[in-house]
Amino acid sequence: MNTTIDTIMTRTSVRKFSETPITAEQINILLNAGMAAPSALNRQPWAFIVVDNAEILHRLGKGLHFAKALYTAPLAIVVCGNLKMKLPLYKEFWVQDCSAATQNILLAAKALGLGSLWIGVHPVENNEKKVSEILQLPKHIAPLNIIALGYSEDEQNPKDKYDPKKVKHNLWS
Ligand SMILES: Cc1cc2nc3c(=O)[nH]c(=O)nc-3n(C[C@H](O)[C@H](O)[C@H](O)COP(=O)(O)O)c2cc1C
Repeated sequence: MNTTIDTIMTRTSVRKFSETPITAEQINILLNAGMAAPSALNRQPWAFIVVDNAEILHRLGKGLHFAKALYTAPLAIVVCGNLKMKLPLYKEFWVQDCSAATQNILLAAKALGLGSLWIGVHPVENNEKKVSEILQLPKHIAPLNIIALGYSEDEQNPKDKYDPKKVKHNLWS
C-alpha cells in the first residue's frame, strides 16, 4: 500500500509511553507538519506549546479528565488557537484549522514511529481553565487539545472503522 495511506490506516491512539525521549529533530518535524495544515483563508491561527517538563506534564495529566497518558508521555504539544487571528465573519473556523494541524501532527508522529494521543480540551470549560492556568496562557490563546507523544509501550492494534452504512451517494434517501 502507498506509505501515506498506510500511515493513515495504521495510526491509533497510544495511552502508555516508554521513557525514551523524543529528539529535537523529531519535534521540529512534528511542528512543521502541524503548520503545513490547511486553514481558512490561510490565516494559520495556531500556536503550539511544546511541553517536556515532567512536572508540568504531570499537572496537566492530573488536572484534566481522561489525560492519564500524560503521566508517561515524555512530550506533549498543546495546540492552541490565537483568537486575535480569528476571521471576523467566520469566528469558529479556528477550531477546524487547529484540528487539521493536530491531525497532521498525529500522522507525522506515526510516520516517525512515535505514538500519540489527542486529548480534548476545547470546548470542555474545566479543561480549558486548567490548561490556561497551568501553562499561564494569555486570554487570546485558547487551548484546543493536548497531543501526548512518545514511543508506545504497548503493541498497537488499529481498529477497522470502515462502515459502508455511513456513506450515501448523491442524495440522502
Ligand atoms: C476531539 C477528540 C478528543 C479526544 N479526547 C480524548 C481524551 O481526552 N482522552 C483520551 O484518552 N482520548 C481522547 N481522544 C482519542 C479518542 O478516544 C480516539 O481517537 C478514539 O477512541 C478512536 O481510537 P483511535 O484513535 O485509536 O483510532 C480524543 C479524540 C478526539 C478526536
